[in-house]
Amino acid sequence: MTDDQTRTGSSNGGVATAQESLTVTDNRTGETYEMPITEGTVKAMDFRQIKAAEGDFGLMTYDPAFTNTAHCRSDITYIDGSAGILEHRGYPIEQLCEQSTFLEVAYLLVHGALPKQNELDYWQYAITHHTYVHENIKKSMESFRYDAHPMAMLLSTVGALSSFYPQAKEIGDATERYMAVVRLIAKMPTLAAFAYRHQLGLPYVYPDNDLSYSGNFLSMLYKMTEVTYEPDPRLERALDVLWILHADHEQNCSTAAVRAVGSSQVDPYSALAAGVAALYGPLHGGANEAVLRMLDRIGTTDNVPAFLEGVKNREEKLMGFGHRVYKNYDPRARIIKKHVDEVLEATGGADNPKLAIAVELEQRALDDEYFTDRKLYPNVDYYSGLIYEALKIPTGMFTVMFAIPRTAGWLAQWLEMVGDEETKIARPRQIYSGERELDYTPIGDR
Ligand code: CMC
Repeated sequence: MTDDQTRTGSSNGGVATAQESLTVTDNRTGETYEMPITEGTVKAMDFRQIKAAEGDFGLMTYDPAFTNTAHCRSDITYIDGSAGILEHRGYPIEQLCEQSTFLEVAYLLVHGALPKQNELDYWQYAITHHTYVHENIKKSMESFRYDAHPMAMLLSTVGALSSFYPQAKEIGDATERYMAVVRLIAKMPTLAAFAYRHQLGLPYVYPDNDLSYSGNFLSMLYKMTEVTYEPDPRLERALDVLWILHADHEQNCSTAAVRAVGSSQVDPYSALAAGVAALYGPLHGGANEAVLRMLDRIGTTDNVPAFLEGVKNREEKLMGFGHRVYKNYDPRARIIKKHVDEVLEATGGADNPKLAIAVELEQRALDDEYFTDRKLYPNVDYYSGLIYEALKIPTGMFTVMFAIPRTAGWLAQWLEMVGDEETKIARPRQIYSGERELDYTPIGDR
């Protein structure tokens, strides 16, 4: 077990044996306590029994940013950051990208198992036939300023969907939960594409039910006067793979936000709006944009060595390298890289100088002890920006592109949270560090 690994269930079914416990001595009182260790974890609430005196509240644990706190049990995504492993419901990401489709992976995440053919057909039919949004949603999006950030448009519109489907607040009703899941996965690309067209001042394009999930998205982005838009199969597949890669990544900031807000038993549209809001932040969804800016600044492959010297002298960061969890090649980066050439060829961007700089930079960094000693390898964002740029997707849309596939992960996590009997409203504790029992001073005397 390493720092970077998802905790897995213990072989003894969660019952502590003599060795699987923690003995703690409170040096304030000399009292000793024994706490079970299950699944490599001790329960924070077990510390509450440790009191310095009668009436004492009991010991708490302090963990800003939850860096060492498991806030749920989950069967959805397994990560081993040291070994560079990512699995959804036990299936390696490499196999899913090679053999599956985004909609099948969404089914897997949401339902917990791969579908049989008839189940997949029904799922695809259901998603395809819920892609339209109410005309008032369209009108409300039209009312944004011409330069509105597309992620701000998405964030507020996902929240607004709650008012169009008020029955979704019946989260105890399996049918309502299922309908919300289908609607959100179906409508997210529509909202994203409308936000894109809005920025360009172009009319919104309605969904085309004859196209695949990613093909329809490309149509809603790019269709102009042609009667039927025919997506390039290479772009359709590359986008689908990119979406498989981003479908879920266990308890990251936005997923934790969806679970925390959802734990109040609010409807899933509102809970997912919280996820979109979290993703909007530059520390979560924005690194691929920073990679493009960095490649722009480097300018030519000749400047790569000097740039790397600057990184080693801590003058700047090598964006798209390093990861909090992966201390090895991010498995998603390896897969994306394979599709970059294909997309650039399809879009006529094969001579994009940024690609040559990216390849040179990666190669030199991987050959350099500064980076390998620190276990700094390319992450998923190193190449995804180049794909988006080749697709002529403006940088402001990058996080929106991320929100489309992550919707499946958020929903799977939300469903798991709703069905977990251990779920309670999220309510962390604090260490109060402010003043106490001051006397109010009238305003004129301050
Ligand atoms: N360039 C240069 N040095 C780096 C980098 C980098 N990108 N990342 C980490 N380091 C160095 C860091 O200076 C430290 O060196 P030292 O031990 O000598 O002080 C060492 O590596 C360990 O770094 P850390 O800060 O402890 O690592 P972390 O786990 O806290 O940071 C990170 C992870 C992703 C924030 C960081 O690697 C980073 O800022 N990378 C660039 C931004 C980026 O690409 N972010 C996208 C992440 S993937 C998004 C996703 O999964 O959704």
